[in-house]
Amino acid sequence: MKEVKIETTLQVYDDINELPKAIQNLMTTAIEARENAYAPYSKFNVGAAILLDNSIVVIGSNQENACFPSGLCAERTAIFYAGAKYPKAKILKMAITASSQNQITDKPIPPCGACRQSIAEYEIKQDQPIEIYFMGAEGKVVKSHSLANLLPLLFESSVL
Ligand code: THU
Repeated sequence: MKEVKIETTLQVYDDINELPKAIQNLMTTAIEARENAYAPYSKFNVGAAILLDNSIVVIGSNQENACFPSGLCAERTAIFYAGAKYPKAKILKMAITASSQNQITDKPIPPCGACRQSIAEYEIKQDQPIEIYFMGAEGKVVKSHSLANLLPLLFESSVL
């Protein structure tokens, strides 16, 4: 037996104002997208904004359903739309923000496992890292230089 250590390095910004201007703008777009979340059940609004290499920004927000599993997270709403509408474009960056309707969300909220797996698919497809930035409603912003960095041991199609 041998032990394998997996390490991840992330960058942590004090708040949105410390981000480069272009990322601030992308995060502001994600915050605006968050306003259109349909989250009557969880009361947890999530917004995502994706910058493509054709300079177009695609947004998404979580859309819930009375049949809970039928709802979809903000990140997948955005990335599936990007894939559907701009299949040839590369995805450069994704900004994510989340805000509870019940309490102040002041810590960074990372994408869930299913969203990480979905984003990973596009990162592998385009053979280029996707930068991920995530935050709560306020406070620190975390940057990951790629999705793979957030999902070690990811499941990918070469094994199929
Ligand atoms: N949610 C997202 O939109 N993204 C995530 O990465 C985690 C969770 C949504 C799904 C659901 O509408 C609500 O947040 C509570 O789980």
